[in-house]
Amino acid sequence: MLTDAPLIDPFQRAIRYLRVSVTDRCDFRCVYCMSEQMTFLPKKELLTLEELDRMCSAFVRMGVEKLRITGGEPLVRRDMMTFFRAMGRHLETGALKELTLTTNGSQLDRFADDLAAAGVRRVNVSLDTLDDAKFAAITRWGRLAQVLKGIDAAQKAGIRVKINAVALKGVNEDELFDLQAWCADRDMDLTFIEVMPMGDLGNEDRLAQYWSLKDLRARLDDRFTLVDLAERTGGPARYVQVQETGQKIGFITPLSHNFCESCNRVRLTCTGQLYMCLGQEDMADLRAPLRASPDDAPLEDAIRAAIARKPKGHDFDYSRQMVDGQVSRHMSHTGG
Ligand code: GTP
Ligand code: 5AD
Ligand code: SF4
Repeated sequence: MLTDAPLIDPFQRAIRYLRVSVTDRCDFRCVYCMSEQMTFLPKKELLTLEELDRMCSAFVRMGVEKLRITGGEPLVRRDMMTFFRAMGRHLETGALKELTLTTNGSQLDRFADDLAAAGVRRVNVSLDTLDDAKFAAITRWGRLAQVLKGIDAAQKAGIRVKINAVALKGVNEDELFDLQAWCADRDMDLTFIEVMPMGDLGNEDRLAQYWSLKDLRARLDDRFTLVDLAERTGGPARYVQVQETGQKIGFITPLSHNFCESCNRVRLTCTGQLYMCLGQEDMADLRAPLRASPDDAPLEDAIRAAIARKPKGHDFDYSRQMVDGQVSRHMSHTGG
């Protein structure tokens, strides 16, 4: 049955935000995200760009207002600009309020103008350090200069850039104020993320690297006046404004503060599985109903059935000095 009733989950949360991973591949190998030898999915497992279009368009019809394209690295998938242009049509009708992406920035230099033309107004760029050697150590395959060039290109194209930095104890702790000042200078928002236990990457390391944002925030607090902002982007970050610089700094704290009660989003993997929560294993296969029929009714039914199972929250927990609630998927599969 095709209806336009919005998607409401069992906890009365309206689902208006869809994150879509368009590829599990990436040109980097960040230590907290991938192992060095990753086996990627065969291409035929992936949704085609046409299928991605049908999938996203169904969600938009069902009330999704914010679409974030992720990966892997979304910009390494061939022909992505065709897909962004296609999604741009939902911005024009007003059904979609925001089309955006989370990227490592490596390809932004090439694509920033096309993204802006497709209607992208903001991008989130993942960048944990401004130090060449550390950047190479964290990303294994990445080069900082390329990312900085990408950020320049995005800003020149009129796209607002938000930097996402994973807080890593003993790695970027000493760069807290450098990152903050750099973002302030360039008029970019900055969000810190607590490292999450994802994938089979050796958990002792994750635990050793866990740097609580409570501590990070306290250090900022020592130097600056931080004012809590009520404003939300629909994402999980809580923002403060730094009075001295005017900049916004966000904190994504899945471990030290659970934000699940206001969760408004679901995630589609590049193979068409819908994860109702980043931190739980339950998912619904949407590829089968999509491929079963050119008519979208079975797909929409499957989407509603999935939302009806959205869990209350995740179980990530580093307390008692062990990693708990870990999920076995890599972040690149679910798209962060
Ligand atoms: P905006 O608020 O629109 O800027 O987006 P966002 O912060 O939701 O998106 P972004 O891709 O920048 O998210 C950054 C990271 O936050 C993700 O890659 C995840 O690591 C984490 N994250 C996002 N959503 C969730 C969530 O629902 N649960 C958990 N545990 N982590 C999340
Ligand atoms: N914990 C926290 N953040 C992670 N990311 C990838 N893996 C993890 C993890 N284990 C972040 C990236 C990027 C976003 C897409 O997800 O750094 O900012
Ligand atoms: Fe690639 Fe992002 Fe994973 Fe790093 S965190 S390997 S840039 S998908």
